[in-house]
This record gives sequence, C-alpha cells and structure tokens, in this order.
Amino acid sequence: MKAGIFDSGVGGLTVLKSILKAGLFDEIVYYGDTARVPYGVKDKQTIINFSLQALDFFAPHHIDILIIACNTASSYALEAMRAQSPVPIVGVIEPGIQALQDKITDKTASILVLATAATISSGAYQNRLQTQGYQHIQGLATGLFVPIVEEGIIDKKVLEAVMGYYFAPITTPPKAIILGCTHFPLIAPAIDTFFQHQSILIHSGDAIITHLQNNYHITPHKEKIQTKINFYASGNPLALEQTAQKWLYNL
Ligand code: DGL
Repeated sequence: MKAGIFDSGVGGLTVLKSILKAGLFDEIVYYGDTARVPYGVKDKQTIINFSLQALDFFAPHHIDILIIACNTASSYALEAMRAQSPVPIVGVIEPGIQALQDKITDKTASILVLATAATISSGAYQNRLQTQGYQHIQGLATGLFVPIVEEGIIDKKVLEAVMGYYFAPITTPPKAIILGCTHFPLIAPAIDTFFQHQSILIHSGDAIITHLQNNYHITPHKEKIQTKINFYASGNPLALEQTAQKWLYNL
C-alpha cells in the first residue's frame, strides 16, 4: 500500500517516524511545502488554497491514502481536500482527540492544547473536546517552539525561557497536554519535565497509527518491512532530506 504524507514543511517527519516504526506501508511519498512554511501564522483561506495545491502534487503519484501530518492544514483544509480527493484523507485532529479520550475518561480533567496560532484560533481541537463533554480545555498558541525545533536549538536555557513565558499562566500541571503541532513531540521531554511529569502527553503521530488500524483497517505488516520513501519539497529538497536523516534516524 502506498501512502502520501503532506506537511507544511519538515514537521511531518515526526508523524512519518511513527508510521515507519509501525511498518504500515510499503511505500510513502512525503511532500513538504517548505517554500511556504510556516502555515501556522497564515489565514484560513491561504491555508486551504495551499493545501488544495498539495493535492495536485500527489495526483501523479497514485497514492492509496493521504495523511495530513500538519495540524494547521488538518484544522482548516481537511474537508475541502476530502471534497476534491479520489483517495481517503486522514488528518491528525481526530486521532489526537481519540487518543485523549482513550486515556482520559474524567470529563472534568484539565486539558491543555498546544499548537500554532492558526490551529488554536480554528478551535479544531477545543470544539471537538467540548463536544465530547470535556469541561476544562485551554488552547495555547506556542508557535515560537516551531523555529526553536527547526533551528535545532538544544540550549536548555532558551527552551526553558520560552516555556516559562508561555506557561506562566498555568499554575498547576494539566492532566493532559495535546501536542497539537508536528514539531512538539521533539520537545516533549522538556515539556514533560516542565510540568513535573504530572501530565499525559498526546502525540498525534502515535495516535494516527491506532486511528489507521481502527478506522481504515491498515495493520502493520507481519514481517519487518523496508518502506520505500520518496521525499519531495516545494523548496530546498536537500534541506528536507538532511532534516529527515537527522530526525528519523539520529534523534
Ligand atoms: N506543521 C505545522 C503544524 O503542525 C507547524 C509548522 C507550520 O506552522 O507550518 O501545525
């Protein structure tokens, strides 16, 4: 089976990593819109337009299913993309919500959603959580984490200062934190430490595996497989391949 993975840039590699680990597909075409990243600071219509153009990219690749790894694109463009796509499209929001429901049954539990400004203002996570009956949901736009991860800034002091700034209003560790942005799993250990290991962290890359198994009956191959991956980028494909090498195999 051949899957497409679409992201605004390199962030979707965290989702690709989970998918590769699960051994779900024989072949994967990864497309990052690196020339126009970040999506998380753009307006709704621009995000929809760019995401629909990604469908055109995938057309000649004859994929069986498309995974939108980008939370921002999933928040705004999933329906528009589905309406024009000949193959099923899976976003990361539903799997994230499902993973949270599986782990948190107490509807009074405090839930923190961390994502880009666009994802937070779409209300994609918050509205669905509310529909599921959760009463204490806080959405927090923490877009500065994106360049920190991309720049590979591993200086603890920088990350701690930014976390201190963003998380200042949160006085007690939330019960669960949705890592609602492709980049955030890479700083999950730091976030976990900041909240004194008291919060359950939800990683959409991992959540999507369960979702694909349960909803699309895509199950891991019995024998270990070597998935063939082709990387494409709208700008600087070499940089994408270099980041892939680092994030997929050396982190
Ligand atoms: N991939 C985006 C997301 O998950 C983060 C980077 C961007 O803003 O484009 O929301």
